[in-house]
Amino acid sequence: MSAFDAPTLRGLLGERVVFFERCGSTNREAMRLGREGAPHGTLVVADAQTEGRGRQGRAWRAQPGENLTFSLLLRPRIAPQQAAMLCFAAGAALSEALDLRLKWPNDLLDGRDRKVSGLLAELELRGTALDFVVIGVGVNVNQTTFPEDLPEAGSLAQLRGPQDRAALLAELVPAMLARCALVGTNDAAILDAWRARSATLGREVQVAGQRGRAVAIGEDGALHLDTGEGIAVVLTGDVALLSPRLQPVQGGAPR
Ligand code: BTN
Repeated sequence: MSAFDAPTLRGLLGERVVFFERCGSTNREAMRLGREGAPHGTLVVADAQTEGRGRQGRAWRAQPGENLTFSLLLRPRIAPQQAAMLCFAAGAALSEALDLRLKWPNDLLDGRDRKVSGLLAELELRGTALDFVVIGVGVNVNQTTFPEDLPEAGSLAQLRGPQDRAALLAELVPAMLARCALVGTNDAAILDAWRARSATLGREVQVAGQRGRAVAIGEDGALHLDTGEGIAVVLTGDVALLSPRLQPVQGGAPR
């Protein structure tokens, strides 16, 4: 196993790595660095995270020595309205690299629908223009037991045994950067890649007070539900997957 420290991560990923043995939130640190002018590609990594921010105001903590918590700062030349597409790009890249499936909008699940990873993007405007975006990623890597209030969590170690976190990060970050670079020029390809790895489409779901079958992801990234009374277009929310997965995941049975 590689060490998980600043010299190792800089050796693998370059000088734009900012490493903390422990911090409150890598997203918060990356937002601070962004406001101070840190360049595109700055990567904030923490071994342990004590006040991590999740979607919908939830927490995302990480104990030392187990998981990946990192935030990637991007300065794309796109309009603020296009920033959501960065999440789809990052999610598709992570899902391919980690061989996981995507639950709309930003969760990565294993074959039993256990959440292994989540993304949280935050953005900063300069006037009406986009100044920078921070994409924060938490991946459960080597954690094998979870608190009772997280019964639906899983990890890579449960699927494939212990993983080298530094090597994994060195795979994930370039994949995210490459896919995010397509935003604004090839959004259709990003959404196609996302749809191809979806754990959501075709299933009965509940989200934002609506229940129905997830039938499409629109060109704007919205989730389309067939409610039986028509098509509901959902822009944000937390999806509960109500029906089982329809097809085995690519490459075999769910793991
Ligand atoms: C979610 O599924 O709710 C999103 C979780 C995002 C957590 C990551 S961990 C690294 C980064 N820093 C944070 O404070 N949050 C994100």
